[in-house]
Amino acid sequence: MENTSSDRDEPALMHPTDAEIASGRGSRSYAPTLTKDFVTERHRAYSSFPLRDSSVIDHPIFGWLRRDDALLLYEMAFFTPGNILEFGTHRGLSSSVMSEALTDAGKDYIIHTLEINREYLSDAKQSHLKAGLTNIRYHTGDAAKKVKRFLKKNKKFGFVFVDHSHRYDPTRIVCESLSDLMIDGGFAVFHDYVDRRNFDEDDHEYNVVKAIRDALPSHFIFRRISGCCALFQCQGDRLNAKRTARPGYPPTPGELV
Ligand SMILES: C[S@@+](CC[C@H](N)C(=O)[O-])C[C@H]1O[C@@H](n2cnc3c(N)ncnc32)[C@H](O)[C@@H]1O
Repeated sequence: MENTSSDRDEPALMHPTDAEIASGRGSRSYAPTLTKDFVTERHRAYSSFPLRDSSVIDHPIFGWLRRDDALLLYEMAFFTPGNILEFGTHRGLSSSVMSEALTDAGKDYIIHTLEINREYLSDAKQSHLKAGLTNIRYHTGDAAKKVKRFLKKNKKFGFVFVDHSHRYDPTRIVCESLSDLMIDGGFAVFHDYVDRRNFDEDDHEYNVVKAIRDALPSHFIFRRISGCCALFQCQGDRLNAKRTARPGYPPTPGELV
């Protein structure tokens, strides 16, 4: 998959500074990565979706996706080269957006979604059933344990959406596993990356940025910010990739391949 974005000066392609994230100024508007325009009318509709609390989409399925988050998820699911793995189902909003995109793209791929809370998962299943979304498989339990099982079975995914616990260890564990879980060229999106709570020392619930810095291997290339999400692409020499913090991080746009 090629990155067709040509404008290297586009702000969303620049990694925000820590100060920007810490002060709540790191969020960016959606722009396509793999295409030039919205891919379907449904995709376009997310750009003007009604809002709740002036920030997140007011969807029949409750959740916390911004328009720019939903637009990015839809595009990545539409173009995925394989099955999708989601960390954190909650009530099924993000999985419904990705499920629609797979269906609209005419792809038979499946979304595997992981959730620790049985009640949430049951709600999500019911909402998906009501909406006629059948390309989703549900897994209850701690994501870290489920991931071990996927790795053992050598399962590979074209797109991974990380939105479960935003604490340091759960995010680090995902980062350490991603390389072996993903198809080369596939994308990973981390929700709540651009969130000031990641830089609040008293908030131990949010440590997404540090976990990624410490544990995401260096062949995951930063691509863009959309809403509060960060997009990385699994690309390059995975055998020689460093598994620890990389020098010169965050990357400048000039480093984008
Ligand atoms: C922010 S919500 C997910 C929202 C969902 N992605 C959406 O946009 O509709 C996070 C979810 O992750 C679940 N979760 C938290 N820790 C988890 C873990 N260790 N393994 C699996 N799920 C977890 C929570 O129960 C919660 O439902």
